Amino acid sequence: MNSFEYCCPTRILFGKGMESNVGKQVLKYSKKILLHYGGGSIKKTGLYDRIMESLNASGISVVELGGVKPNPRIALVREGIDLCRKEGIDFILAVGGGSVIDSAKAISVGIPYEGDPWDFFDGKATADSAVPIGVILTIPAAGSEASPGCVITNEDGDLKRSMGTELYIPRFSILNPEIAMSLPPEQLAYGATDILSHLMERYFTNVAHVELTDRLIEATMKTVINCVRRILDDYEDFDAWSELMWSGTVAHNGLLDTGRTGDWGSHAIEHELSGIYDIAHGAGLAIVFPAWMQYLYKHDIARFAQFAARVWNVDTDFFSLEETALEGIARLREFFESMGLATKLSGVDIDDTRLEEMARKCTHSGPVGNFVKLDEGAVLNVLKLAL
Ligand code: NZQ
Ligand code: ZN
Repeated sequence: MNSFEYCCPTRILFGKGMESNVGKQVLKYSKKILLHYGGGSIKKTGLYDRIMESLNASGISVVELGGVKPNPRIALVREGIDLCRKEGIDFILAVGGGSVIDSAKAISVGIPYEGDPWDFFDGKATADSAVPIGVILTIPAAGSEASPGCVITNEDGDLKRSMGTELYIPRFSILNPEIAMSLPPEQLAYGATDILSHLMERYFTNVAHVELTDRLIEATMKTVINCVRRILDDYEDFDAWSELMWSGTVAHNGLLDTGRTGDWGSHAIEHELSGIYDIAHGAGLAIVFPAWMQYLYKHDIARFAQFAARVWNVDTDFFSLEETALEGIARLREFFESMGLATKLSGVDIDDTRLEEMARKCTHSGPVGNFVKLDEGAVLNVLKLAL
């Protein structure tokens, strides 16, 4: 087990109706805020009205910036920074999923920074201060509601890049599972795939003696799989949505990293896919992860067999652990397909024309992944297996 430092500073308010507390939470920080949201789902569901009621009751004045797209764009981040400076905003409330939250995070570090915010994503600058943010989460998925990560797309160059800092980790995140029940089934599938992927990125490690976090990750993976099945059976199953939503936060708030080194190669490869083709992050992961596993499971057959047995209930074949390992990968693929997702690039109409470009961009600052380090040629091989 590795030495570690762990701190998750986000206050979580979890449960039905919790968004009615937003005014009081915001008031701890500011009386004038930016309300940042996406393409309009929050207006259709009535969430927007409930939030405004709570903010008004606390006497908070609101400047709005909607229109965040999935795979959030740097152009809107720049617009948000200008707006906040002009209006003297010192707090951002993000209402949405990973895209809205990440857009808010990028604005928050961009406000006090004199240069262009893309500098943080192409490694030219490191943030040293940020405007605080709060979150009302509407989709269990990216885990951005309690993570130091932020992923932004720059259409100039088809680039999707990430940054990480503790400066903008949300001060509070409000999680009401009822809000997620208006999600279309494909967003449920993308979100669950992302949660599972965050768990698998951590699970596949070379660090020994990580039994506690192994078991916690396995339990969270089993919970996600089970809850998705329950929700697909009954979309109104509040308890299943609750477990799924909390799993999404726990999967990515750092707890399950403690003492171990995760991989993250599949995420790096997926970001190239969604950077170029603008597909949903979860849709890309459902394709990349099985291909990544197929490419390198021999690196640690015992770990893949453990994954198969403990997460997918595969009977361990002690005469051929490889068969057990392969059955685990097959069940993961079946699970993605059971949610209606493609597990091959051809299933999302992507052919081989830009594979070399993706492999090159993905490894622009060196090999990706820790479980197995993948150079440009290896990434290309993973992508070819995904065709
Ligand atoms: O924009 P609106 O109209 O709100 O619709 C959204 C959007 O179209 C819709 N939606 C969300 N909640 C809803 C709803 N529709 C109906 N009812 C609701 N309750 O869902 C669509 C997808 O939203 P998005 O925010 O893009 O989803 P997600 O949370 O999956 O975020 C994906 C982004 O997060 C990044 C991804 O790369 C991607 O850009 N990630 C961020 C991470 C982080 N910051 O730590 C880690 C992840 O690995 C990931 O890379
Ligand atoms: Zn992810």
